[in-house]
This record gives sequence, C-alpha cells and structure tokens, in this order.
Amino acid sequence: MNELEFYEKVKNWEFSMINYTKECLTDWDLYKLLELNANKDSILLDLGTGGGEKVIRYFPDCKEILATDFSKEMINTARENLRKSGRKNIEFRQMDNLNMNTPNNYFDIVVARHTCTDAQQIYNTLKTGGKLLLRGVDKLDCWSLKMIFGKGQAFDDTKPISLVDYENIIKAGFKHVELVPIHVREYYKTKDDLLALLLKTPILVDFSEIEDNIIIDNDILDKYIKENTTEKGILLIRRYYGITAIK
Ligand SMILES: C[S@@+](CC[C@H](N)C(=O)[O-])C[C@H]1O[C@@H](n2cnc3c(N)ncnc32)[C@H](O)[C@@H]1O
Repeated sequence: MNELEFYEKVKNWEFSMINYTKECLTDWDLYKLLELNANKDSILLDLGTGGGEKVIRYFPDCKEILATDFSKEMINTARENLRKSGRKNIEFRQMDNLNMNTPNNYFDIVVARHTCTDAQQIYNTLKTGGKLLLRGVDKLDCWSLKMIFGKGQAFDDTKPISLVDYENIIKAGFKHVELVPIHVREYYKTKDDLLALLLKTPILVDFSEIEDNIIIDNDILDKYIKENTTEKGILLIRRYYGITAIK
C-alpha cells in the first residue's frame, strides 16, 4: 500500500473514540499561533487537512479558508463534516501538496499539520510577509514503542524530518525560521485504546509495509504495556516539532 492508498482507506482523521489524556511539556500551540496571526481579512490555506476535523474546529473565522488533501475520501469526509458544522467560509479541495495548483502570492497564512510539504511551493503561494505554521511528527515520536518493536515510522531515517523541513524552509527563501521541539505525554486508558491508535496510524509501520491492514504483534505490545503502565494510564511519549517562518 502507498501513502495515498492508506489515507483513502482510513477516510478521516478523527480520534475522539479513543480514551486518552495528554500532558504538554512545551507550550508551542499551532492554533494559538494561528489565532494570533490571523484576522478577519486573512486568507488561509490548510495543507493535508484530512477529514477537515481541525480546520472546522480550530480555524478562526476570516475572509477565506481553503483546505486541501490528496485523498478524495478525506475530502468527501471533510465536506460532510463541514455540512454538519454549519460553517460557511471553508472550501475543501483535492490537491497534492507536492504539486500545488494554488495561485502565487495569494495566502496570508499556510498551515501544514502532520503532512508532507514542499517548502518552495508554499513559499510561492504565500504573499510577501505571509506566514507558514507547520507542525510535524519527529523521528523520536513514540521511540520506546518503536524500539521494542524494532521498527516504525522514520525508524531508519538518518536525519530527523524536523531538520530536513527546517533546512528546506530556509533554502526556499523564508525568513525568521524557528524550529521548536514539542514534547507531549499521552496516557491511554486501556490496551484497546492504544491499539485503536496503532491500527489507525502508521506509527509502527511504513506505508509500504501495510498490506490490507496494520498487523501488531500482541506479545510485543503486551511487553510495552507492562513496562509503561502508570497510574495515569499507558504512557506513550510523543515528539512533535513546530516551525514558524515568514516570506
Ligand atoms: C496525519 S493526517 C493529518 C490530518 C490533519 N492535518 C490533522 O492534523 O488532523 C495526514 C493527511 O495528509 C494527507 N497527505 C499526505 N500526503 C499528502 C500529499 N502529498 N498531498 C496532500 N495531502 C497529503 C493525508 O491524506 C492525510 O489526510
């Protein structure tokens, strides 16, 4: 299965059915930054929007919001979520982040959360002075889980994806580029909650490894759970990164 086929099958990026709590050890918050930087005249672009869950919930009201994804199934879900939400100024459209067809010098802010991007194409579509707000999943995300399984997303990367993004964003011509590590502890209530996350996301596998369904070795998972159960739940240490940059 490739990445597109994986997301076509998943169809949404909704996790509210999973029972977990989280503690953020750092205070870099994508949607607070968006709120701070946007105003009623802003034109916003959300890349790799999934089922539109975050745009509909967290994007402020402003002049125009375009949210895109390369998965047709995700866009169908997003349009349905939009219809249920009653929000008016959001448009969902299918687009590949690596082959963007948005106009040059058009957007005030581009948001990219947990998706792949092309820094030069984002630069081109932003107005001068426009901002990029990016959040990504770093190589060390869920590292003790990946170590115990001996595999996982970015497990064999020689260079962390945060550094690759940071360098590409600078190379594209952005100014004031800042890279901030984001540390989060998640606590899953039960094994089924943790399993639901692992079966829906590619944390433990590469897209190319997935045949029809993600397969998780039960004995190894039990070992992880035994070693990581706390009074708050089953601990999963998340490592994200945030990047802000100005054109
Ligand atoms: C992990 S989900 C994140 C969804 C959403 N941004 C969020 O934070 O909830 C990644 C999304 O990026 C999309 N995606 C991955 N590669 C893409 C690409 N090259 N072009 C457009 N969308 C892409 C997937 O279809 C998926 O919906």
